[in-house]
Amino acid sequence: MSSDANRNRSERIRVFRESTPMVLPSVLNADFGDLGGELQRLTDAGARALHLDVMDGHFVPNLTFGMPIVEGLRRHTDLPLDVHLMISDPLRYAAPMVDAGADMLTFHVEAVDDPVAAAQTIADLGVAVGVAINPDASMDQLEPCLDHVDMVLIMSVQAGFGGQAFNPIALERLRSLRNRYPDLLLEADGGIKASNIAEVRAAGCDCFVVGSAILKSDDYGKAIDELNDQIAAGNPSGADVSPGQEATR
Ligand code: DX5
Ligand code: ZN
Repeated sequence: MSSDANRNRSERIRVFRESTPMVLPSVLNADFGDLGGELQRLTDAGARALHLDVMDGHFVPNLTFGMPIVEGLRRHTDLPLDVHLMISDPLRYAAPMVDAGADMLTFHVEAVDDPVAAAQTIADLGVAVGVAINPDASMDQLEPCLDHVDMVLIMSVQAGFGGQAFNPIALERLRSLRNRYPDLLLEADGGIKASNIAEVRAAGCDCFVVGSAILKSDDYGKAIDELNDQIAAGNPSGADVSPGQEATR
């Protein structure tokens, strides 16, 4: 990795942090026959980062994509790429994903024996590191690595498919982590839409992964604007939130 590439990545990670609270469109429901067009439409719609769902047909029953798609997107966008690894052996693919252009790399706590070692291995690759947890897994599993990650991804559906209903267990998990870790980035993923995103924000979430509510709408820009309005409505400080402007918690 060249020093230019490393500088660009640090810049994207900084931009990512400064852009929160923020909606991250998940490309899971995109038209993969026209990924370039989808990227352009999401960028025009105001997306400030993209969430990429990598599934291996083993950790989850679904299969999506791997490094070539991440690398292809990287060549066509400067948006931060937030890669969610729903795979059984995340460390095997961590370095290739970083080489492909991931800026944030999130592994599932259920997929590794030693979450602290996994977090450190990923952090050593020079990317921001996240740890994800499914609704049916015990939060105790997360405890050891909370001091070793940049972000916690609280799944609000069981990982594997888009279009599932939001599980409110995510709200109590977010609230509890927000109270204990004021500076940790918190992300929620699954079933988020305009009608529930305000309460997810009120629970302390910074990064809102949204698939169907954007990609299955007729107007991505309108969908993202509506989600942003609702984030502002749920903002714990009551302050409005403009793109690129960090809200006070
Ligand atoms: C679920 C994925 C999500 C999903 C969200 O396994 O991690 O990112 O794409 O999609 P919606 O918003 O449709 O639940
Ligand atoms: Zn995801």
